Amino acid sequence: QYIESYPIPSIQLPKLIKEQAALLAQGKLVAFPTETVYGLGADALNEEAVKSIFAAKQRPFFDPLIVHIAKLEQLEGLVVDLDPRARLLMDHFWPGPLTLVLKKHPSVPAIVTANSQTVAIRMPSNPLALNLIQASGKAIAAPSANRFGYTSPTTATHVKEQLGERIDAILDGGACTVGIESTVLSLCTEIPTILRPGKIGIEELKPLLGEVIVTKQVGPTDTHLESPGLLESHYAPTTPLYLVDDVTLYKDQSDVGVLLFEKQKVPFKGPVVYVSETENAEEAASRLYWAIRHLDTMHLRCMVGSLLPEVGIGVAINNRLRKASAKH
Ligand code: TXA
Ligand code: MG
Repeated sequence: QYIESYPIPSIQLPKLIKEQAALLAQGKLVAFPTETVYGLGADALNEEAVKSIFAAKQRPFFDPLIVHIAKLEQLEGLVVDLDPRARLLMDHFWPGPLTLVLKKHPSVPAIVTANSQTVAIRMPSNPLALNLIQASGKAIAAPSANRFGYTSPTTATHVKEQLGERIDAILDGGACTVGIESTVLSLCTEIPTILRPGKIGIEELKPLLGEVIVTKQVGPTDTHLESPGLLESHYAPTTPLYLVDDVTLYKDQSDVGVLLFEKQKVPFKGPVVYVSETENAEEAASRLYWAIRHLDTMHLRCMVGSLLPEVGIGVAINNRLRKASAKH
């Protein structure tokens, strides 16, 4: 009876996706969910549209964008001399959180690649993202949908808070499942090089590629970055974040927020957020940015957290924690 009186409203998703895809095709900005973080998308081959991404994010032009595709056919016109190792990686990890830096096709505007002869390409696995890209008929350049230097968004609300006024639409797909940005792997270096760690780690890449190296950490003033996302300070909240060995030393400070990665028995006077209760690194990744943003709204003196074991996705989490705390 209740079911008859209160029918489930029909969801307008396909229509919404078509509308937002049409906006993208017209050169407008649409934020959309991926499995990693929300992206701020525009037609990658439309220079004006791509410029407006940089304006909305206040992102410097030296930082190149990732081009998102829904079908392998789209590679034609984006890359040249496709490396056979790239095909191997695509077969294993796409759609998914692996971005490949490849040789760029001349038709990709210089603004997308920050004048580099390489282009970063990724096929996200989120079905909304795939459908949106597919329906737009375009390759979509998309950085994370946050103001430059700040923590990446993992919900549509995060995007709205920082960019709502500056963009044309947001596709709400709920919380991102992976929660931290894709692994960026360059196949244009002598030895395949991880430029940014992510869920897909070196342990998974080595069996397919043989040798793989991880790019070295660079200083804050280094202007010759292999990948400018490697700036020392990045992903940073407004409230200072400090990395400490033992967070329980801060249990009596009511104006210190605490990021917890395992169950704590001691009571804390300040606000605590469980990023994971069981030191589960995958769970911690999926909640990390939400937790940081949450504490950042509380007008605290600072927040503290500890690094995770340097294995699997823990490597990527630690990379983000270090950068988010680098200013302090
Ligand atoms: O998970 C992700 O990758 C998300 C979602 C939206 O797909 N995107 C993302 O984009 O994190 P963004 O712009 O925040 O970070 C892109 C990273 C930057 O570190 C940038 O320097 C690097 O990729 N990158 C882009 N093109 C490159 C290129 N041609 N060579 C080297 N690094 C490149
Ligand atoms: Mg970003």
